[in-house]
This record gives sequence, C-alpha cells and structure tokens, in this order.
Amino acid sequence: MTQNLKDLIAQLTLEEKASLCVGDSNWTTPSVPRLNIPAMRVADGPHGVRRTVSSGSGSGEETLPATCFPTASLLASTWDPDLIRRVGEALAEECLALGVDVLLGPGVNMKRSPLCGRNFEYFSEDPFLAGEIASAWIEGVQSRGVGTSLKHFAANNQEFQRFSIDAQINERPLREIYLAAFEKAVKTAHPWTVMHAYNKVNGKLMSENDDLLRHILKEEWGFEGLVVSDWGAVRDRVKSLLAGTDLEMPGPKPRRVRALVDAVRSGALAEAALDEAVERILRVVFKAAATPKGGMSFDDLAHHRLAAEVAAQGMVLLKNDGLLPLGGQKSLAVIGRAAQEAHFQGGGSSHIHPTHVSIPLEALQARCPGAHLRYAEGYPADDSSHPDLIAEAAAIAATADAALLFIALPDWKESESYDRTDLDLTAQQVALIQAVCAAQPRSVVILNNGSSVAMGEWLDQAAAVLEAWMMGQAGAEAVADILFGVVNPSGRLSETFPLGLEDTPAYLSWPGELGRASYDEGLYIGYRWYDARRMAVRFPFGFGLSYTQFTYSNARASKTSFNEGEGLTVFVDVTNTGSLAGCEVVQLYVHDAEASLHRPEKELKGFAKIKLQPGETQTVAIALDWRAFTFWHPTYQDWVGEDGEFELLIGASSADIRQRLSVTLENCHLRPSLLNEESTVREWLADPRGADIFAEFFAALQGQALANMGGDEEGQGMGMNMLDLLMDMRVLSALHFVEDGLPDTPENVIASLLARVQA
Ligand code: BGC
Repeated sequence: MTQNLKDLIAQLTLEEKASLCVGDSNWTTPSVPRLNIPAMRVADGPHGVRRTVSSGSGSGEETLPATCFPTASLLASTWDPDLIRRVGEALAEECLALGVDVLLGPGVNMKRSPLCGRNFEYFSEDPFLAGEIASAWIEGVQSRGVGTSLKHFAANNQEFQRFSIDAQINERPLREIYLAAFEKAVKTAHPWTVMHAYNKVNGKLMSENDDLLRHILKEEWGFEGLVVSDWGAVRDRVKSLLAGTDLEMPGPKPRRVRALVDAVRSGALAEAALDEAVERILRVVFKAAATPKGGMSFDDLAHHRLAAEVAAQGMVLLKNDGLLPLGGQKSLAVIGRAAQEAHFQGGGSSHIHPTHVSIPLEALQARCPGAHLRYAEGYPADDSSHPDLIAEAAAIAATADAALLFIALPDWKESESYDRTDLDLTAQQVALIQAVCAAQPRSVVILNNGSSVAMGEWLDQAAAVLEAWMMGQAGAEAVADILFGVVNPSGRLSETFPLGLEDTPAYLSWPGELGRASYDEGLYIGYRWYDARRMAVRFPFGFGLSYTQFTYSNARASKTSFNEGEGLTVFVDVTNTGSLAGCEVVQLYVHDAEASLHRPEKELKGFAKIKLQPGETQTVAIALDWRAFTFWHPTYQDWVGEDGEFELLIGASSADIRQRLSVTLENCHLRPSLLNEESTVREWLADPRGADIFAEFFAALQGQALANMGGDEEGQGMGMNMLDLLMDMRVLSALHFVEDGLPDTPENVIASLLARVQA
C-alpha cells in the first residue's frame, strides 16, 4: 500500500470504510467529502456507453445518446486487435464526455453453446482469440484514463438460472478454457476492475468464491484492481468480502454496511481484510479522479464512421457463388423487416441509446443511386405466419435483377436473461428465404444474430450469405460497402457454425438440471470438439471468404528445437493471387504430437491480419510464447510442457491448414514423479525415473509372477496374454504373487522403490 493511501485509510472511521465497500446508487460509489474522497461513476458497456440519468419523473432512468458499436461477436470476428484498440479509445472518449469513470466490459465468457442468450456480448469459443481482443479493448479504453470491468468472472456461459446455476468444471477446462481469457487480459492489460459473475463455480457462489477471487485472480495472477459484484450478486456481504469481493453493487444498502461494521466489531471480520478492500477501491477511485470527466462533447460522426469501419471488418462472407460484389444491377429487391429496422444490438444491460442509426435500405440506395430498389417486409416482428408477406416478397424478387434478404434473429429468441431454445430462424423467415430464392436465384441472405443459426433448410438455394452479426448503429453502411465491393470482406468466424444443435459440444448437458450445469465436454468446446470427433460443421472456426484469394508458402520457424520456458517465431509468406486488394487472417494452431494427458487436436495460439495489394507478398511473423506449448497439470498445479514434437499448423481457418512445421521441445526439467503406492506396473515402466529402477528389479520377478498367476512360459494362460493382466496390476498386488522371493514385505519393498524414485 502506498503511504498516502495508508494514511488516508487510517483517518477513515470504521463506518466510512464499510460504506466505501457498497455502492451509493445504481451507478456510483460513495464519496467521503471530509477526506476529499470522490464518488466514482460506472456505466454499462460493453459496445457503447449506457450513461443513465434519472428520468426526472421519478420513474426510472433514461439513457444518454452514445455510439452503439457492433457487439462482441463481430468485434472478435475482425481478428484485428489494433482496430479494437481504436474502438476502446473511442469508447473512452465518450466516457470522458459523459462523465463515466469505469465502463462495465468487456465480457470474455466462452461461447460454450450457441444457445447462450448473451453470446452476442461475448467474443468467442476460443480463449486465445477472446483474450487478445479483450486485452486490446481494455488497453484502448484505459489509455484515456477510463477504467474497465472485465466480466463475468467466471463461467457465466448461460442465462438459464444465471443467478444460481452451479457450473461444475474440472480443473483443466477451467484453467485452459474458462479462465484463460480472463488471465490473459488481467496479466497483459491490467483492467482496473473485474466483475464477478452471479453463478456458482464448483459449488461456490462467485461472490464467495475465495478459490477464484482471492487465490487465483488476486494472489496467483497478481490482480491489483478491485473486484466488483455483478449487480445484485452478493448474498452475504461479510462472506463475500472475505472471499475477495471488494465492492458490492448496486446500492445504497445500509444493512450491508452495518453488517460489515458489526462483523469487525464482533471479530468475525478482521479489520485488515476490510482495509485491503478499501485500499483496492480507493486506488481505482483516485486513478479515475486523476482524469476529470463530464461536460465535454465527443465527435459522434467520427465515432459513427469508426463503427462502420469496424462493422465492415467483422462481417463474415460465408457463401458467394460469384454474385458478389454486386455491380450493374438496375433493380434490386430488398426484403425483410431488418432492412427497414436495423437490428444492430441485443437486449439487456448493454442496450445503448444510439446517436444515429443507419438504415440498410437507405445505405444501399446511397451506394447504388442509379438502381431501382423495391422493399417488402417479408416477415413480422413476432412468430406469426403471413403467407401474404412471402408472396409479395417473392413477386418483387422475381422481377428484380437480384434480391437482398435482411434476416434478423428476433429479440424474443436471443437476449440477456434467457437462452435460445434452438438454432432456428423463425418458420416465417425460413419460408421467406426459400420462396425468394426460388423466385430469384440471385439472392443474398444478410444475417443479424449474436451466435450461429441453422441454415440447412435454405443454404443451398442462396447465392450468397453474409453474417453481419449485431452490427452496431452504422452496420447498414458496412453491409452496403461489402455487397457493392467498396470493402473486400475480411471477417473470420470467431465461433464454429455447426450443422445442427445436436452436434454441439454441450448438447447433452445443456442447460443443466437440479441446479447444476456439468461441463462434461471438458476441454472440448468449439472447434476442439468438432476436431476431436472428426465431425463436419457448417462453417468452421476462423472461416470467411474474400473477393480475392491468398496463397501461403515458405513456412519456417526461428528455431526447430527449443527449451523449456522459451518461445519461437513462425514466419510464412502470404500472397494475394487475386485482382483485388484484401485482408487475410493468418491463423497459427499448435498440435502437441504426444502428451501424457489428453490434449485437443490443435489450439489457436497466434494470428495476424494483413492487407495485401493484388500480386503482393508479405512475410507474416507470429510469435509463440512458452505458454503456447503448455497445458495445465492438475497434479503439479502448473503449466507444463513436455519434451517432444509439436506441429505448427498455419491456415486460413481451423479446417483449412495450408502449411505445417515441426519443432521439438527439449530439456524440460524432470518434475517430481507421480508414482505412489497405487501405481501399476505399466505406470512404473512408463515413468521417466521409475522405469530403470523398476525394470531392473522386476525383470527377475516377472517370470515367477506370471507362473504363479497360472501362466505358461510364454505368459499365456486362461486363453489370454497374462502379461497384459500383470501390467495393469498395482505393483503391490503383483508383488503378492512373488512374496516369498522378496527381501521384505511388499509394502516395504514399494516404499524403498518410491524412496529411490523421489531421491
Ligand atoms: C449484468 C452485467 C451488467 C450489470 C449492470 C447485470 O445484470 O449481468 O453485465 O454490467 O447488470 O447493468
């Protein structure tokens, strides 16, 4: 603690200290005027600033206008941390203008299932991609003196029973999948605050989860900021403070303050623990106060343009039979209510009051002033069936040169606070797409949604499909730019699009029962699952089309062998072989050829987005650090790498590997042996230290043991190879068959073997 803060805390009364640990309103922390401690204002994010003001009528809150950027699904699909940093800077400028000290985002929960209603607010199914994009976002916001709140820590991967569900996750998936993006962002971007989730993880409510909040986040990762509760997530203020929840939001809650005071007085809570929470809170409060905020303006037009730029970079062209980019069409049928009512964000706490909203129909007309555009609504806002709307749309489409179908997954299917029940568009939307495509083969489907949707019923009929996500307030301009080739699409999927819901990794355990969600698929979410099961998917992770083509060549690594703790750099030459300038996302996956524990087939560990002119070649360099080669070892409680070969797979998607390299990890130090009294003969023989010691000792006994078990000279008996049986016996059991020949009891023999191994 700095001396100044220490001195200040020493001047606070117990009541003042307790009050600082509970919000003062929905969005502010308390001030202590006599000691010049200011209040601090927070606001939702993540893809805009939801700065609320009292409506004045005494009934609720109103939200001030702010730029609604595309939501996280699209941001991650840009694969462009530099661009996301610029989005962060723009968000910070709006916070400065609107008087917001801390923006409540980003959300880095994993997309375990496409059904999570809040997937639109989350980046990816892959922790590496999510961690990189989140870090850039945080760095951008915080570079301007505005704080962030990395959320929802941890495992808030569904909305069903989100306040109470107990996410049961084994240690490796917890570390390697569900905590990894948090860890990356905490260690590299240093968010001022981390927001804990509502749910339980492995039996402990997150507000009271000392394992995750205190031991992992604060002690192990060195997080120095404050932990804030999700809104209303605290059950017991004293227990939550002890576990590491520094600030409870929202407030005011005088009873909570009193509970803390009483607990200190009764000795149930050490005052030092309260002081630590206060110190963490004050450190952030003063950091925020160092940059004065409020009463300024921001350049809303520039931010709108940035929202359009990022939207164009994150939309993913999924299919194109050659119709796109459009050009020369004299008449276009523009179909679907989302062409008139842009679907640009999702429902819930992230809902932004936008400064402007671009309308697809208008943006298209602006891009092709000479063309005649005819609009048909096509589908209603609700789930009702309207054959008349379909007939009208098909008739318009049939007489146009091409049809553009704007299909948005409705809010009632996808939002914060409830999960989706299927991957389907509405029945009317599907029937509409089918009818329009039948009437007009030159049809483009433009989708707005936060996570994958089913396409099997109509994909073959559509000439082109653009995944436009929840595209932000300027998304319509990005759609027009991509359709007309002003922008060459370069978004790549940040999640797998499966063939069907029943293929998805969490299908059999979603959404849980009896208060528990059991993460039975373990490490295998997203492409890790489809890879391991050798399953076909609709569109793989990392996939996206361009109007040009790229070739990869000459992959090489800075070294072909490396030692424990080291990393290396991979180089590959990428050439634009088409006739248009465009961006390529080069993806680097690591495959561990042989590991002592299960590992996914391959894992994303690096990527780079580059822009190439036609005919241009660039050498892309992607650095891999030591962590890229390791896995979490539950016994050693550490990230472990093992000697041997690793394949480095360089590709344009997880299913389109273009170049392969092999490198060798050498000289990893021997860790303490895992052998114990329960270990089998096979385990002893496989252990790097046990093998020699045991083989020598056991060679003399093996024949006798087999004979005593009833085997012949070749070890055959009872119609099987008895050596296999012996190999899988505990050594203790095996020794019982040769007890007479042992110098000591089997137990003592094992004890002395173990002593030699551990020596
Ligand atoms: C959401 C958070 C949000 C908070 C404040 C909660 O219900 O889960 O993401 O920041 O409300 O609005």
